[in-house]
Amino acid sequence: MAIKILAALCLLSMLLLRCSSAEEEEAVTCSGIVPMRGRAEVISITDFGGVGDGLTLNTAAFQAAIFRISHLRRRGGTLLYIPAGVWLTGSFDLTSHMTLYLAKGAVIKATQDTTKWPLIDPLPSYGRGRELPGQRYKSFIHGNGLHDVIITGENGTIDGQGDVWWNMWRQRILPFTRPNLVEFMHSGNILISNTIFQNSPFWNIHPVYCSNVVVRNVTILAPFDSPNTDGVDPDSSLNVCIEDCYISTGDDLVAVKSGWDEYGIAYGRPSSGITIRRVTGSSPFAGIAIGSETSGGVDNVLVENVNIYNTGIGIHIKTNIGRGGYIKNVSISDVYLNKVRKGLRIAGDVGDHPDSKFNPNALPVVDGLIIKNVRGENVLQPGSIQGIKNSPFTRICLSNVKLFGDWSQSWKCMDVSGAALEVQPAPCQELTSTFDVSFCANAV
Ligand SMILES: *[C@@H]1O[C@H](CO)[C@@H](O)[C@H](O)[C@H]1NC(C)=O
Ligand SMILES: *[C@@H]1O[C@H](CO)[C@@H](O)[C@H](O)[C@H]1NC(C)=O
Ligand SMILES: *[C@@H]1O[C@H](CO)[C@@H](O)[C@H](O)[C@H]1NC(C)=O
Repeated sequence: MAIKILAALCLLSMLLLRCSSAEEEEAVTCSGIVPMRGRAEVISITDFGGVGDGLTLNTAAFQAAIFRISHLRRRGGTLLYIPAGVWLTGSFDLTSHMTLYLAKGAVIKATQDTTKWPLIDPLPSYGRGRELPGQRYKSFIHGNGLHDVIITGENGTIDGQGDVWWNMWRQRILPFTRPNLVEFMHSGNILISNTIFQNSPFWNIHPVYCSNVVVRNVTILAPFDSPNTDGVDPDSSLNVCIEDCYISTGDDLVAVKSGWDEYGIAYGRPSSGITIRRVTGSSPFAGIAIGSETSGGVDNVLVENVNIYNTGIGIHIKTNIGRGGYIKNVSISDVYLNKVRKGLRIAGDVGDHPDSKFNPNALPVVDGLIIKNVRGENVLQPGSIQGIKNSPFTRICLSNVKLFGDWSQSWKCMDVSGAALEVQPAPCQELTSTFDVSFCANAV
């Protein structure tokens, strides 16, 4: 009898063990990098005179609440609760050790009065605003030099009401570079989750000169024809993880960057340790992009399990002459594409220059890109890999890349070497004539 019970217990524990190890396998996540944490103190925007009627301007209420958080410095930080309602406000700054919590039905809405929008200095790695010379508008929600900040809640919305900005861009009457929706500069331990970001004036979420940033379980939406509404742009930042997101915008869903030309080269701040996982969405431009601003260098990028449909280019790795910098050690795997114009594009002639002072001899280095387990259906063109004449792209590996469509043309390659294993349609000569396929074979 005792033996039977023992055996039963043993079996049970084996089953349990198997269960838990299976669960761990499923839940590969970087939530450990910046764990969700509670806050000892909770305050509400209504305690500071906030009115969620969609008409009252709440800038002063947000500023007063956040001023209080930064000056009382409660142990364990403070949560600023935003109840259901529409909270119209101008741009505001966050502070360290705070959580901005949007309850179900809460919408923080940006004012459309662009004339009173604050201006800030350009980023040193850009030397000017990204789209126009001079200063740039401050992001709607901004953080500079912060630590331990969480934006989360119950699927509340941060709405940039960007159409006024898009129209100014279309009419060419923008005085300065448009604001991002959320920007963190020089900050660390940032978690953004369980929130909807919509209609950003420009890029949606922009961590720049940051480390340890997690963006997970968010929805990012903007119309297909909205200009430059990139989803998430990790820029000159270390350890950034973007996972479990749905993104549908008017520009690249995720674009990893590190400044441009002489400004980015001089500032020399790379993007490294970037994880992009379980991202789904569509865009007229790229699904997953690296560049074209890569002057500080981009390396150690891991992209896996992405699902891209109704999109211009599935994977787009782009740089330019005069950029300098590098793109190295990029691994992209388990990609599903459907209805894309081009499956893959790796190009050395993309993106404009900040000014004419760029050094034409500053050639980027592109080396060690592994692209494996890609399946594409309804692909109009498989793609192109076009390096730079005096800086050919090296160790480009395509492995188990199967694209299907009504081909008008096959791959186009130039100034590139690497390897291709199990690639359909048949890969270009440049990838098949190389000796060293071991790095590519070993990557599988
Ligand atoms: C959150 O909102 C998005 C966008 O409206 C929606 O697609 C998603 O299902 C919502 N998630 C939950 C858990 O309600
Ligand atoms: C994702 O966010 C939604 C609300 O936006 C929430 O209901 C859900 O529990 C979240 N999932 C995880 C895994 O955090
Ligand atoms: C390449 O990048 C991965 C992260 O994607 C990292 O784990 C690995 O150590 C890097 N390899 C080298 C040689 O730096």
